Formats: sequence, structure tokens, C-alpha cells
Amino acid sequence: MKPQNKEYSENYLFNDLKGLCLISPTDSVKPIFEPKIRLGILASGNGSNFEYIIKAIKNNQLNAEITILIVNNPDCLAINKAIKYNINYVIINHRICDSRLEHDNLVMNKLEELSVELVVMAGWMRIVGERLINRFKNRLINIHPSLLPSFKGIDAIQQAIDKRVKITGCTVHYVQKEVDSGSIIIQAAIPIKQDDSKETLTKRIQEMEHIILPLAIAKVAKDIRTIVRDNK
Ligand code: GRF
Repeated sequence: MKPQNKEYSENYLFNDLKGLCLISPTDSVKPIFEPKIRLGILASGNGSNFEYIIKAIKNNQLNAEITILIVNNPDCLAINKAIKYNINYVIINHRICDSRLEHDNLVMNKLEELSVELVVMAGWMRIVGERLINRFKNRLINIHPSLLPSFKGIDAIQQAIDKRVKITGCTVHYVQKEVDSGSIIIQAAIPIKQDDSKETLTKRIQEMEHIILPLAIAKVAKDIRTIVRDNK
């Protein structure tokens, strides 16, 4: 069943179970957390996931504020979305840095300067180093277009097609040193149809990404707020 309206309603999730995908866990539906979480978004590509985070905020499905979009690629289309929605953005081009560490440090400094609480890699095509990962421990998440731990790394959708798996999906996970290996926050399983091309499958996976990423952000934000409260 094709989602008509990407709302965080249990109806939506259960309707979908009868159709062509399965999201788990579903306990992340409508998590309550206050105050707004301050997000930093990292992107390198089209920025469709970035746009769906913006939409989730606008629709009051995510109590969050995007403090900055950071891109590493000056030509990436995510920038157009930042302009369209009037969101602060900065280009930190890795090509002008001498090392990965230098690039990571520039990214980290920007996130710290803006007091970002949760960093979301929404199509960020760069490996980040341990310093950045440790600085944002349990506050740095990534979306990947496969059912991890299967098909890590680049071109995950093609990897799944090549292996002729019958079910693939997408995953939001915490970032750790090993690529696409941190603990899993939420996944959507998506059957591969016999007549699927890479394009049709990519489209269905992305539709689910746009749903699970805001859910994952809400879930992690709730954890962050709970930990802060418990430590008071
Ligand atoms: C997504 O498929 C994501 O899983 C992968 O990169 C893609 C980014 O798409 N890491 P977009 O830039 O959000 O449209």
C-alpha cells in the first residue's frame, strides 16, 4: 500500500504492514519530548531526506529546529532546499582541506558553535573520524539504504539487487568507527519485486527513508531529553 500521507499515526503504520513494507520498532510513534531538539544536518546529495525532516517539523511531527545544514559538496542539491525553506547552511568543502581530520574539525566546530544536540547524516557521503564520533556519542545518526547489517558501504541498493535478495530496506543507525555498523535505531523492510529496476526500488526505499528518519530523530531526541532529565 502506497503511503498517502506520511503522518506518524498508528493507522498509517498498521496499514503499511498489510501492504508492502514493515517498519520496526513502531513504539517510536509520537514520542513526547520537550524542549525542541537542536539538529545539525549533514548532506552531500539531493537532500530529499533533509526536506522530509523539514516537513516533519513544519507538520508538528517533530519538535525540532534545524540550526544548520552542512554540505561538503558545493554542487549538492540539498543547498537549494535550504534556500527554499530559509535554513541556515554552510559549505565545508573537503577538497580544500589537507586531511580528513581537518575537515572533521571544521564540521565539529560549526556544530559546537551552534550548540547542536543531535547530528543527522542525511545522505552524507563522507566517512567521519573518531574525534567527531566521540564528541557526538549517541547523538550522531545515519540513514542507509539497506537492511543492515546486509549491504554496507556504497551502492547498497545495487548490492541487494545483485545478490537477488527478496527483501531489502533502509536503516537508521548510530554512527561508529566502522562504516554502517553502529547500533540500529529503526528499520523498514521492503520486498523486491520481480520487475523492479534499480530506479523503482530506489524510489520505494526512499519513500520509506522519508518516514523512518523523522521517527528515528524523534526516538533519539526523546532519549537525549530523558537522559538530561535523569541527570538533573
Ligand atoms: C539516501 O538513499 C540515503 O540512504 C543514502 O544517501 C541517500 C541520500 O538521498 N545514505 P537524499 O540526498 O536524502 O535524497
